[in-house]
Amino acid sequence: MTEDPLARLLRPDIATMEEYTPIVPFEVLSRRLGLPAEAIVKLDANENPYGPAPSVYRALADCRRYNIYPDPEQTLLREAIEPYLGLSRDHIVFGNGSDELIDLTMRLFVFPGDEVLSLPPTFGMYSYNTSLCAGRLIEVPRRDDFSVDAEAVEKAVASAGERAKLLFVNSPNNPDGSLISAGVLERLLRLPVLVVLDEAYAEFSGQSFVSWVPQHWNLVVLRTFSKWAGLGGLRIGYGVYPLALARHLWKIKPPYSINVAAQEAVLASLGERDYLTANVARIVAERERLISSLAALPQVHPYPSQSNFVLCRITGSSSLELKRHLERQGILVRYYSKPGLSDCIRISVGRPEQNDAAVRGLKEALSALSATQTS
Ligand SMILES: Cc1ncc(COP(=O)(O)O)c(C=O)c1O
Repeated sequence: MTEDPLARLLRPDIATMEEYTPIVPFEVLSRRLGLPAEAIVKLDANENPYGPAPSVYRALADCRRYNIYPDPEQTLLREAIEPYLGLSRDHIVFGNGSDELIDLTMRLFVFPGDEVLSLPPTFGMYSYNTSLCAGRLIEVPRRDDFSVDAEAVEKAVASAGERAKLLFVNSPNNPDGSLISAGVLERLLRLPVLVVLDEAYAEFSGQSFVSWVPQHWNLVVLRTFSKWAGLGGLRIGYGVYPLALARHLWKIKPPYSINVAAQEAVLASLGERDYLTANVARIVAERERLISSLAALPQVHPYPSQSNFVLCRITGSSSLELKRHLERQGILVRYYSKPGLSDCIRISVGRPEQNDAAVRGLKEALSALSATQTS
């Protein structure tokens, strides 16, 4: 038998790694369903249904510097975000989405075999990036109400010993929308690991621990413009780092990963905070209305959420069948095949008419599914 020459060269851990399964792109689905893109109710990726601030479109149209490489030191961006955070720019590093900062932070610390702690159910990139670094993922499950089990985390860190490097905590947590409390975070910060607090959805909750960073050697907070500011497609987020750590991050950050368009969009967004904050308030009000409408459906059990999505447990029908049924009607929600969540769907909060369409669609789908089960 001839040996595969590529297999000899490829890293064996990547060769056997599970492939990343992205959600079906909007354009592809619209073609597949034969529906115009505007008719699709896209509530599967926690995007902002109101989009960017109007001044973002003007700034992008007016910019005349797309031929010039972006500023690798992010001078204007870091200056502009200072008053928003109330922190010195020396703590702040922008990245190509907070995804890039998850990746870079991991690469600063994790050698093959080192341990990364994650608190499932939670955002998938923590385990994905751990695999890329050939790290070992230690999962400390959340309690049934999705709260963090600090005692179990302490035990896991103690038994991992020197190899435990990072602990990823997401608050509000994706997929359920629960918050970490100040007391639990304080407890976690006493552990000898770097605590990476992912606050991608902080603006919807009104809670942030970003001001704690200067007082803690081991706290990093990640934030993004994808959600509250509607810039998901432009890919820009940032990390708030202790000063001693920020200097190492700059060494490994690709210099041009923030493009000029993303920079312009952030500067325009920070100049239109009132507009964006009003949209956040509309989304929060809609979230509460959506939760009440969902709770009125007997087979749907929504969890409380401090974010822009609602996790629902489904009883009496398969959540996968339900997701497929909704998809055929052009309504996209997130389904999970993972243990513990396989009877759940997550619905992002959209505009009022999109949320109404989702609730109507769910009602119809559930009665159609019950009819096929009883026939
Ligand atoms: C918890 C969490 N962190 C980070 C991200 C990624 O954000 P960004 O678009 O800034 O890469 C997401 C995106 O859905 C998320 O849910």
